[in-house]
Parts: sequence; structure tokens; C-alpha cells
Amino acid sequence: MNALEFRDVTVAYGSHVVVDSLSLTVPAGKIIGLVGESGCGKSTLGRAAVGLVPVAGGSITLGGKPIRNGSLHGLQMVFQDPYASFDPRMSIGRSVAEALPQGGGLSKAQRQQRVEQLLEQVSIDPARHGERPGQLSGGQRQRVGIARALAAEPSVIVADEITSALDASVQGAVLNLVRNLQTTLSVGMLFISHNMAAVRYVSDEIAVMHEGKIVEMGPGDRVVHAPEHPYTRTLLDAARLELQA
Ligand SMILES: Nc1ncnc2c1ncn2[C@@H]1O[C@H](COP(=O)(O)OP(=O)(O)OP(=O)(O)O)[C@@H](O)[C@H]1O
Ligand SMILES: [Mg+2]
Repeated sequence: MNALEFRDVTVAYGSHVVVDSLSLTVPAGKIIGLVGESGCGKSTLGRAAVGLVPVAGGSITLGGKPIRNGSLHGLQMVFQDPYASFDPRMSIGRSVAEALPQGGGLSKAQRQQRVEQLLEQVSIDPARHGERPGQLSGGQRQRVGIARALAAEPSVIVADEITSALDASVQGAVLNLVRNLQTTLSVGMLFISHNMAAVRYVSDEIAVMHEGKIVEMGPGDRVVHAPEHPYTRTLLDAARLELQA
């Protein structure tokens, strides 16, 4: 398993610098939570990692090797809205099968077996492999999205707001799934969310992003109970107000 490393990464849309000489490491097998207010550049950072947005400066490496644009090997992304990223006419089993590593020398039966194993890993009944995305609930679709990411056997998954569109009752189950996968598969994850409670629940460490930079990083308990940066305090106060509302 490989670490994902951002070193002095800058990303700009035209003259608008969104990620500003940012450095951050997702160590192998660890979940790093990335929080920060809307528009601070979290998604842009994640998209840059998987080559969806060009990097204007610095380097992004996986296991020490530069990530080239469009080369997703070892790194996978899961998005907020799994519906948008599935072909509605394709069975969920086939969507997962298409993400299996190419040239793995697996027979058709072995590929099918692997798809069923992946569905089981995310607690979807493998007998449902022939169903279309539209036949699943939002939470189930997000699980299949995770299975599809796992199919590629990544070292690190970039998860961008993967629970944000789900009902609160379903969110917890997906968060538990994320934790279980980390323990059983030791996959690393950059867990992006504006939800401080969710981030704290799944993450080994929390990184706080503000205006394109990481202003603070540390274990969840420390960041929440003894924030060092004034911006982190502002963010925590806002999260508390939300809980009280
Ligand atoms: N494709 C784009 N073209 C131009 N500007 C963009 C583009 N995508 C994002 N931006 C701008 O970049 C900034 C950061 O956006 P980004 O989506 O990375 O924020 P975020 O932290 O993920 O926010 P949220 O919590 O709302 O998801 C914003 O000012 C946004 O308007
Ligand atoms: Mg975002």
C-alpha cells in the first residue's frame, strides 16, 4: 500500500488560485479527513489528485511516483452523487466488473465471482448484481460506488462528500462501512466532507483547509478539543450551532 502525497500543490481556474501551495500526506492505510467551508477548495484538491483538474505547481505522488493526468492506477475517487456516475442502463454488477483491473487474466467466471465478493464487502446482496442503479436506494448506490472503487484495488480512495446526499440514518451505516474497509483492506482514504462529526468519526487525522491551504492537522480529538488555529475554532463553532439548530 502506498501513501498519497501532495507537495506544494497549486491549482487555479484561470487567475483564481483555489489550492495554494498546499502540502498534505495520506499515509498508507490511514483515513485523513479534510474539512473546511464551502468553496475552500476541497473538491478541487481531490479532483486534482485523480487528474480531473490540471495542477499548476507542485507535485502529487502515490508511493513516490508522480500521478500523471488521467492515470488513475492505484487511486480511485468516489463522488457525492453516485447516480450521476453510473450508467443507468448498465447493471450494477457490470459497472463493478468494468472497474476490475484489465489484463488480470481472470476468466469470466472468476470476474463474476470477484464482483459478487466486492458487493458482499459493501453489504449489498450479490444476488442483486443484475439490477440497475435506479432500483437501489441512495445509500445502496453509494455502497456500489465504493465497491466499484475497490474493484480497481487502489492504495488510496478519494471520497468527496460521499455521505452528504444521504439521509442521516443511512449516513451512519456508510461511515461504518468506511471504517470496516479500512480495517479489513487497509486502504487509505482522503475523506472530504463539510460534516465535522462524520469526519471525526472515520478519520485517523483531521486536516483543516482554509482558502486553499491546510491551516491545521492532527488527531480528531485534539483538533476538536484543542484547536490551534483560529479558523478551526470558527469552523467548530459553526458545527456546534448546526447541531443545536
Ligand atoms: N470548474 C470550475 N471552474 C471555475 N471555478 C471553479 C470550478 N470548480 C470550482 N471552482 C471554484 O473553486 C473554488 C473551490 O471550489 P471547490 O468545489 O473545490 O470547493 P469545496 O471546498 O469542495 O466546496 P463545497 O464544500 O461546497 O463542496 C470555488 O470558489 C469555486 O467557485
Ligand atoms: Mg466540494
